[in-house]
Amino acid sequence: MAVGLAPRMGLDMGTSKTVVWAGKRVAYNEPTLLAVNPQRNRALYWGKAAAERTGKMKQDTEMLRPVRRGAIADYAATVFYLKKALAAAQRFRVLKPVLVAGVPIQLSSVEARALCDAAREAGAGGIFLVPSTLAALWGCLEDPEDPTGSLVVDMGAGVTDVSVIASNQLIVGRTIPIGGDDITLLAERVMEVSYGVRMGRIEAAAVKMDVGVGYYQDEMFEKRRNDPDHKGGFNNVRISKRQVAEFLLQGLEPLFSGIINTLEETPPELFEDIFRKGLILSGGSSLLPGLRRRLQDRLNLNVTRLPEPSLSVIQGVGRIITRFGQFREYFDEQMAMA
Ligand SMILES: Nc1ncnc2c1ncn2[C@@H]1O[C@H](COP(=O)(O)OP(=O)(O)OP(=O)(O)O)[C@@H](O)[C@H]1O
Ligand SMILES: [Mg+2]
Repeated sequence: MAVGLAPRMGLDMGTSKTVVWAGKRVAYNEPTLLAVNPQRNRALYWGKAAAERTGKMKQDTEMLRPVRRGAIADYAATVFYLKKALAAAQRFRVLKPVLVAGVPIQLSSVEARALCDAAREAGAGGIFLVPSTLAALWGCLEDPEDPTGSLVVDMGAGVTDVSVIASNQLIVGRTIPIGGDDITLLAERVMEVSYGVRMGRIEAAAVKMDVGVGYYQDEMFEKRRNDPDHKGGFNNVRISKRQVAEFLLQGLEPLFSGIINTLEETPPELFEDIFRKGLILSGGSSLLPGLRRRLQDRLNLNVTRLPEPSLSVIQGVGRIITRFGQFREYFDEQMAMA
């Protein structure tokens, strides 16, 4: 494969959104979603156009997410979607592009193979895989060879990656199967079970983004609901932010224990660096209100969030593409499988 000549493109195909890097910039950033007519087995809309039509199409239209928990869940839909995303991002198509893709740390070899096959079927000449936390860190480090240890947590929609990185290497880490979408489901549940307010996914996500896991005293907010005493009518109900936040916090338990377990496996030589630098957060869900303070209080570590956290993986991938030579060694190991 003529890796040297082929254009390089970056890919972050996540559970909720797909981002493509081409020509030194983010060239595509849309939801990883398809609206499908199951009878005719045909995709009607994809990306933003599909998201805008959620709940607004004929009942038999299926809203399909080809990626779940960071891995391919529907192969054919992934190939179709990737073709569209790559075509939208690429202006000139002379040579097949070589992709550099951010992926969860614990992607199984079967899942990795599926992504490589899907990329080729969608028109890529080859693909290199990079753990998302490594890419996020490379995007912000002055010197990627930095020998000091960093603790990086990338919290997306379907998975959270926790890792300790030093000298360009992933020292220890794990992929925890929770993400922002699980927190949205908890918001939906607490509103229904504790307050009798039924809401759709988008409204529940808005509650999550507003209340999050912050510290509250007696702050309240109001919602309209079907009045249980007057069938067909509505009334307003007052909701305690504290109660909602404490319910959502339970969903973060696997994250707290995943970080603690990762630190237990970390070589003690790296502890001092981690204490000094603190924990680095990336991913869209790092914007959850209160998350930083909860982590800080639980781990007794300083926590910083990368700027534009939902783009930090692709920005790191972009940097890898521009300075590919510097990362050569890392990818040499993968050349055989590319
Ligand atoms: N302000 C916010 N507060 C809380 N959560 C937010 C906020 N903005 C975005 N999110 C959440 O971030 C998640 C999307 O993050 P991101 O784009 O990093 O995911 P992804 O890369 O598609 O998924 P994954 O990496 O898990 O496969 C969604 O669950 C979304 O609800
Ligand atoms: Mg992600």
